[in-house]
Amino acid sequence: MAKPAVIRSISSLRRTVGRWRQAGANIALVPTMGALHAGHLELVRQAKRNADRVAVSIFVNPAQFAPHEDLASYPRTWKTDVAALARLQVDLIWAPSPAEMYPDGFAARIEPEGPAKAGLEDAFRPHFFGGVATVVAKLLLQVEPQFAMFGEKDFQQLKVVTAMARDLNIPVKIIGVPTMRERDGLAMSSRNAYLSPNERAVAPTLYRTLKDSASRIKSGDAVAAALAAGRSEIERAGFVVDYLELRDATTLAPVASPKHGKMRLLVAAKLGRTRLIDNIKV
Ligand code: PAF
Repeated sequence: MAKPAVIRSISSLRRTVGRWRQAGANIALVPTMGALHAGHLELVRQAKRNADRVAVSIFVNPAQFAPHEDLASYPRTWKTDVAALARLQVDLIWAPSPAEMYPDGFAARIEPEGPAKAGLEDAFRPHFFGGVATVVAKLLLQVEPQFAMFGEKDFQQLKVVTAMARDLNIPVKIIGVPTMRERDGLAMSSRNAYLSPNERAVAPTLYRTLKDSASRIKSGDAVAAALAAGRSEIERAGFVVDYLELRDATTLAPVASPKHGKMRLLVAAKLGRTRLIDNIKV
């Protein structure tokens, strides 16, 4: 099993992807922060279906964490990540240091609007999408892929990145990949590792409630009533709810009528110290 090349400098990255492009290969990028789970591996499989060469970036991006958040404790599982990517025959792992990504004097930041100001994640993590948009723009300019894969679990992030690539004319197709779930429905996430056994047993309530609320809305219940019932169900299970919202699936604008076109139901809630997010199509 050939190990993927691990590249840590921008100059070496450019030489490698430059050679691929000269040989006529198209390239897919899977941006990650490591701590890879089956959801990430599905992004890699989809990338391989779309492109001749696949690069996976592993970079825990300090710019998207607020000072009180979990940057220091974010799970880091380098050896198992590399082994999993080797099994999938990824071509390259792009693993820059924070100093390579943000050298001394770094002073440019993207401040996304539109879906980044939808009043969902941004209302609770105001620094987050600026950090994500900045690092994703840098990753896209560094690797210059034709395709970049993002999980639908971070649905607002997917919309923000898609709008950013379009608005900045970055020539890449952003591909959203459906959420991978554990057998009991919990959306896969690197942060699930923080859950205690008791919390892990309760965590699938989030997905169950999303499904219940979606079926109430589809069967014609008033949106506000369905959301209030869903919120109580999640709170009864022990979560502190940040939001449970029905939104337009394209613009993320609030939706009041169950007869609206394509809709998405999105939730974020804290269970103990762990904040979980999830969403489903309605
Ligand atoms: O979804 C993530 O893991 C991160 O937000 C991303 C897209 C890799 C940017 O750091």
